[in-house]
Amino acid sequence: MSPDQVEFFEKKVRPILAESCYKCHSVEEGKSRGGLTLDTREGVMKGGEGGPALVPGDAQKSLLIQAVRYEDKDIQMPPNKDGGKKLTDSQIAVLTEWVKMGAPDPRTASAVKKLTGLTNAAREHWSFQPVKKPSVPVVQNRAWCATPVDAFILEKIEAKGMSPSPMADKETLLRRATYDLIGLPPSPQEIEDFLKDESPYAFSKVVDRLLSSPHYGERWGRYWLNTARYSDTIGERVGGSNADYRFPYAWTYRDYVVRSFNEDKPYNRFIVEQLAADRLTDLKEPSDLAALGFVTVGARRGNVNEIIDDRIDAVTRGFLGMTVSCARCHDHKFDPIPTQDYYALHGIFSSSYEPQKLPVINTVEKDVSKDFAKNVRDLEEKNFNHYYEQVARTNGLFRQKAAAYIKYAYLVRNGASQAELLEAIELKSSQKLNNETFQALEVALRRDRALFGPFIAFKEGRWAEITEGGNKGLLPGVADLFRDRSVATIDQIAAKYGALFSNLGNR
Ligand code: HEC
Ligand code: HEC
Repeated sequence: MSPDQVEFFEKKVRPILAESCYKCHSVEEGKSRGGLTLDTREGVMKGGEGGPALVPGDAQKSLLIQAVRYEDKDIQMPPNKDGGKKLTDSQIAVLTEWVKMGAPDPRTASAVKKLTGLTNAAREHWSFQPVKKPSVPVVQNRAWCATPVDAFILEKIEAKGMSPSPMADKETLLRRATYDLIGLPPSPQEIEDFLKDESPYAFSKVVDRLLSSPHYGERWGRYWLNTARYSDTIGERVGGSNADYRFPYAWTYRDYVVRSFNEDKPYNRFIVEQLAADRLTDLKEPSDLAALGFVTVGARRGNVNEIIDDRIDAVTRGFLGMTVSCARCHDHKFDPIPTQDYYALHGIFSSSYEPQKLPVINTVEKDVSKDFAKNVRDLEEKNFNHYYEQVARTNGLFRQKAAAYIKYAYLVRNGASQAELLEAIELKSSQKLNNETFQALEVALRRDRALFGPFIAFKEGRWAEITEGGNKGLLPGVADLFRDRSVATIDQIAAKYGALFSNLGNR
């Protein structure tokens, strides 16, 4: 079972089973309806009265999938009674995908216990112990050890009765060191220089040269960029094949990381900048603001809570060396991570925001930045004007045709007759009524009783309420309009509203 599969099970599958099935199918609850328990792998594979609950890899043949899809009248799970209801399409899709991938399931019979918080054994786990300075092992061939670290290696070699390999030749050493530090091979010239250099410092000089190469940051920064789930896109294209899913400025974060390695930035500073560069008063240069890319690159899938989950995941994996995202739903069992901490972090991220306009982080030529500012201003103005023109146009169109829209709303009301619906279709096409305007009107019709009270009363067959002086709560203009009690047809009502709206236009 791969870690991805375990994660898929824990994050997606188990919550569905626990929430919707365990009540009737678990050892924990002492319930095995139909002979089936679903809270262990064994239980799922053994199945119930009808045999194994699933066939790994084959969703069609799996009883469990047939049951949740409500395919068979006889088993529909969870049963659609006593408040139970069919799973959502996306939950069914998760279970189907799980079966298709072979139903990986990390649960065991002995694990059927509630989470209980930290045990002492958990507290003693090696990675939670403070760092200690070990004593350097005593070895026989002390001359071989150039540094104390070598003694740790030699100790194991000697314990196996072996001896170290012979020293590498100079060219091999140079090749290894160069690949190690800058990820590239040495050039012929560099090989020649090193072979000719007889001084005892020849190798130190090579190392210094490599450490000060700009390629050093590129080579080693890449490891950190992996940790930071660096990417130039949001992960997947959403919103159609033309949607732009790039982070246009992700590279500024990449360059920040490379630069930090090349500047030999202290690690504590590196952490602080990536979490809070915007809050630091002693930032060396504005380009260090790009450090915040650590938080803001990453997947933009689904709702804001999914984005925050991704950020918590990156921060905790990156800086604590631990996954914390399981604490989104429950305390961790072995490491000291309660849900409370997860949501404390969640609070931090949900109260942080990304500015609409990103800060300028490089020095820009005066002319260029002036030109940019002017263009942005022009475009914004154009946009605003366009927006208000559209609003005015739509308003105007509505005012001209208000009577037709009102009548249409009446003709398509709940309970309208076949003939009325046909009339509605004709009206819509002859008057060229448009859907968006009508939808906006419908919202207003539902909410705005002060304006549309008379229309609503008529539509609902309560016209008497208006004619019997029930004009309370209406806008004065509207009350005036309907003071005339002889009004009795939808055409008359629509005409009155039509007049009201076109007068508004003139004013
Ligand atoms: C309210 C109780 C209840 C819940 C909740 C429930 N089941 Fe059932 N399940 C039953 C009963 C009772 C049976 C026995 C057959 C029957 O009477 O329909 C059964 C039978 C089954 C069977 C057939 C077992 C066999 O071998 O005949 C499967 C598969 C199954 N359930 C899966 C599920 C799954 C998956 C869920 C959650 C998505 C679930 N059930 C939720 C009550 C429940
Ligand atoms: C979306 C919510 C959610 C997420 C995220 C989640 N779980 Fe769970 N987990 C549950 C639910 C619900 C249960 C069932 C609790 C119960 O039975 O009382 C559960 C139970 C468990 C159990 C069984 C408890 C026990 O004592 O045996 C383990 C183990 C577990 N989860 C591990 C994980 C791991 C590891 C992750 C992260 C990869 C994770 N969970 C992420 C919801 C979640």
